[in-house]
Amino acid sequence: MVDINRQWRLKRHPEPGEVVSADLFAFESGAIPKPDDGQVLVRTLALGTSPAQRSYISLGRSMHEKVKLGDVMRGRGVGVVIESRHPDYKPGDIMSASLGWQDYSVQTPSVHAQRILNIGKVAQPVKPYSLHLGVLGSAGATGYFGLLDVGEAKPGDTVVVSAAAGGIGSIVGQIARNIGCRVIGIAGSDEKCRWVVDALKFDAAINYKTENVDARLGELCPDGMNVYFDNVGGDILDAALDHLALHARIVVCGFISVEQAVGPAPGPKNYGNLVRRRARMEGFFVLDYVERFDESEAKMRAWYDAGKLDPCEDIDHGLELMPETLASLFKGTNRGIKLNRVAPDP
Ligand SMILES: NC(=O)c1ccc[n+]([C@@H]2O[C@H](COP(=O)([O-])OP(=O)(O)OC[C@H]3O[C@@H](n4cnc5c(N)ncnc54)[C@H](OP(=O)(O)O)[C@@H]3O)[C@@H](O)[C@H]2O)c1
Repeated sequence: MVDINRQWRLKRHPEPGEVVSADLFAFESGAIPKPDDGQVLVRTLALGTSPAQRSYISLGRSMHEKVKLGDVMRGRGVGVVIESRHPDYKPGDIMSASLGWQDYSVQTPSVHAQRILNIGKVAQPVKPYSLHLGVLGSAGATGYFGLLDVGEAKPGDTVVVSAAAGGIGSIVGQIARNIGCRVIGIAGSDEKCRWVVDALKFDAAINYKTENVDARLGELCPDGMNVYFDNVGGDILDAALDHLALHARIVVCGFISVEQAVGPAPGPKNYGNLVRRRARMEGFFVLDYVERFDESEAKMRAWYDAGKLDPCEDIDHGLELMPETLASLFKGTNRGIKLNRVAPDP
C-alpha cells in the first residue's frame, strides 16, 4: 500500500478544440484521507474513461457537472474498501464509484447513490474487477439498453455501429451478433476494421478515413439498416441517415466527432430521411437505466461465461498515465474499452 495519495487535479480548462493532455492537470501528492461515520476509504484499482470527461473540464455546454479548477479530476473507477465506518461495508468489499483520478478516496455509500448513480458495492465481483467498469458495468449497460431498449434490435436486423472498435461500439456489435443481427462496424483504421471482423465476428467493417462511407453503406446495406447505433455524429451520421430501412431506429449514444468543435456543431443534413423512412432518432443516457442494471449485468455475464463476449479491455498501467489514457479516445489510439490499472486486484 502506497502511503501517499497521488491525485490529478484540474489546472486549466482546455481551449476550444484542444485535445486532452497532461498539460491540463497537475499531478500532486497528499495525505490519505480518513473516513468519518457512514463513510469508507477506498483504494482505487482501475479507472475507466469516457469522452464525456472532456466536457467535465471544458467551459462549453454540457449535461454533466463541471470539475472546478484545483479539484481532483472526476472519473469512474472500481476499488477495494480499505477501512469502513459504514455498517454495510467491510474491508475487502469491491466498490464501483466515482473514485476520481487518485489512489484513495473517501466514499459515502447510500441507497440514493446506488439507485441514481450506480455507486456502491459490487454484489458479485468477478476478477479482473475492471470488468465492472466494462462489460459487466456501465459500459455494458450502455450497449445493452442502447441497442435493445432504444434501438429495439431484433434477430435478422441489420445493425450499423460507429466507433465500432471502441469500448461501447465493440460491446454493441457483439450483443447484436449474439442476438442474431447482421452487424457492420465503422472505424478509423484497417487494423481496427480487421479486428472487429476477425476477432469480434462482425459481418463487415468500413474504414471511414480511407473509404467512402456513403457508397460502402449502399453496397453493404442494399435494403437499408434497421438500427444505426451512433457514437460519433457528424459526417458519418449524415451518411447513415441516407441508408435507413423503413421504420429504422437511430440510437444517439454520443457525438465525439463534433464534441470538440469550435463554435456550434453543424446539424445532421439528411434528417428529412427520418420522415421518408418513418424512422425514429432517440438519444439516451445510461444512468436512466440504473434500476435495471441487474438485468444487463446478468445477461452480459451469461454471454461472458459462455465465451460469447470478449471484454475487449485496453489497459494502461499507472495513475501517472491517466491524462494520456483519456486522450487516447480522442486520438483513436484505443481498441476496446480503455482503462487504467492503478493497483493490482487484491
Ligand atoms: N449515452 C450514454 O449514456 C453514454 C454512455 C457512455 C458513453 N457514451 C458515448 O459513447 C461513445 C463511445 O464512448 P467510449 O467510451 O466507448 O469511447 P470509445 O469509442 O472507446 O473511444 C472513442 C472512439 O471514437 C472514435 N473517434 C474519435 N474521434 C473521432 C472523430 N472525429 N470521428 C469519428 N470517430 C472518432 C475513435 O475511434 P476511431 O479510430 O474509429 O476513429 C475512438 O476510439 C462516446 O460518444 C461517448 O460519449 C454515451
